[in-house]
Amino acid sequence: MTKLYKAGILGTGSCLPERKLTNAELENIVETSDEWITKRTGIRERRIIDDDLPLAKLAARAAENAIHDAGIVKEEIELIIAATLTPDYLTPNLACSVQKELQLSGVPAFDMNAACTGFVYALNVAQQFIENGACRYVLVVAAEALSRVTDYQDRKTCVLFGDGAGATVVGRVEDSAGIIGCTAGAYGELGHNLTIPCLYSTEEDREKRNEGKKQVIWMDGSEVFTFAARIMAEATLRVVSDAQLSVGDLDHIFPHQANARILKNAVKRLEYPIEKVYSNLEHTGNISAASIPVCLDEASKAGRLKKGDKIVLVAFGGGLTYGAMLLQWSK
Ligand code: COA
Repeated sequence: MTKLYKAGILGTGSCLPERKLTNAELENIVETSDEWITKRTGIRERRIIDDDLPLAKLAARAAENAIHDAGIVKEEIELIIAATLTPDYLTPNLACSVQKELQLSGVPAFDMNAACTGFVYALNVAQQFIENGACRYVLVVAAEALSRVTDYQDRKTCVLFGDGAGATVVGRVEDSAGIIGCTAGAYGELGHNLTIPCLYSTEEDREKRNEGKKQVIWMDGSEVFTFAARIMAEATLRVVSDAQLSVGDLDHIFPHQANARILKNAVKRLEYPIEKVYSNLEHTGNISAASIPVCLDEASKAGRLKKGDKIVLVAFGGGLTYGAMLLQWSK
């Protein structure tokens, strides 16, 4: 592909639901304890979307924040990509609903489902549209309402997930900053370890779930854990070495926020200081595709990211999928 321009993140935004679900509240719902959840996952609370609020509205608020942060007007957006596995409708897709909320009639809008890796995949797609000159500004919004597909009778999963939205505006950057490289992949043969049936389910799918519930998460936690810790380390190493850099050159790592123990395990493999690994999962739980853009927005607004910082965004998720992106912060 002819690369005419360099792509980078120009603005970030996020929006979390106000309602909190604490570990203490979960103790009243399933047989669990604050001690177990904190020790095994690092999570203390997660946010839960109101029943009557469409995810598109939460996503649109995050998008508006990102557009404002980028210093552009919304009419300059030429493409909307929404990363999600929990859209309000199968059709219209979430991106079209966000487009409607933003009153950007006519702008192309599509969804991308790569589960928790969705934001990295979507950013990589947006990067192509910027680099080949097809678009000047692309809105990448990642939003999840995982509480709507969580079985609150299944203690192995319900303690992990939360809701939220994060967004970025991707556009041309003039200097050396911006996206340097990306590596991504998928292992469909491992997909059965983390599933949410939708329009079709097998006998086995129904047997795995409490009372044969259909549209809820089922996960083999330890299989996913092993995959996650290994692939996050491998993907990070690959994306930095492809750029003739080493992990020690990174100012921060922004990993998908699934479990504090996965982060520690991955970081240990990388021999990278844990203090430079951003984490907010204590207060958000796992918000799938939205996890990394929410972290980026928090870190950027808190002044923890400086222009020129070299960072890696790294995620894994259902599919099973993974992706790592190396960039130099461009704001
Ligand atoms: N509260 C109390 N006990 C629980 C529990 C809970 N919420 N969830 C599971 N347990 C119990 C299990 O029933 C099991 O009991 P048993 O030994 O009597 O059968 C015991 O705790 C250990 O279960 P196990 O599944 O081995 O725990 P774990 O240390 O692997 O932790 C996860 C479970 C889910 C936290 C962990 O595997 C994990 O984080 N996996 C990755 C999940 C993930 O990130 N998914 C998202 C992908 S994007």
